[in-house]
Amino acid sequence: MPIRPTVATLKLAVCLAATLAMASLLVHAQTPPAPAPAPAPGGAEPDEPVPTFAAAFLQDAKVQAAGREVWQQQCRHCHGNSAYPGKAPKLSPGSLDPVYIFDRVTYGFKGMPAWRHVFTREQRLSVVVYIKSEGFSP
Ligand code: HEC
Repeated sequence: MPIRPTVATLKLAVCLAATLAMASLLVHAQTPPAPAPAPAPGGAEPDEPVPTFAAAFLQDAKVQAAGREVWQQQCRHCHGNSAYPGKAPKLSPGSLDPVYIFDRVTYGFKGMPAWRHVFTREQRLSVVVYIKSEGFSP
């Protein structure tokens, strides 16, 4: 015998449909938002001015000492001699331009984190000076 839609079954159907719609909305609401695209250098934020490294600045013992602090704190565990092999390349400061080092430290690159919002510009400049110094000991 055919099912005759009564007012009651119609109400039930509408109710079910509404519940399903709500559920799908909820599921949708819980979907995590897509990760924000990584800010490209020069994107929303303006690039920092490119520094110049004067000889006197590179030889400043106080700046070198400040840079050593930064190195010990945040660089050594990836780049240091005692770092887990393969974590990060050993730096060969002789062949690295200070401006290049500053750029990598500031903006990062692939596995290299950006330190722009972690260290002040002064600190980032100082770690470059330390890396380029005679006393650099990774
Ligand atoms: C989480 C590990 C990690 C930390 C911490 C880290 N780095 Fe790196 N760094 C890397 C990796 C990985 C690369 C290689 C990126 C690439 O080129 O693929 C790299 C690359 C570099 C380069 C470029 C080297 C080259 O020969 O091109 C410099 C310079 C550098 N890091 C300096 C620093 C300094 C200074 C600090 C501390 C402020 C630091 N890194 C902290 C992982 C790290």
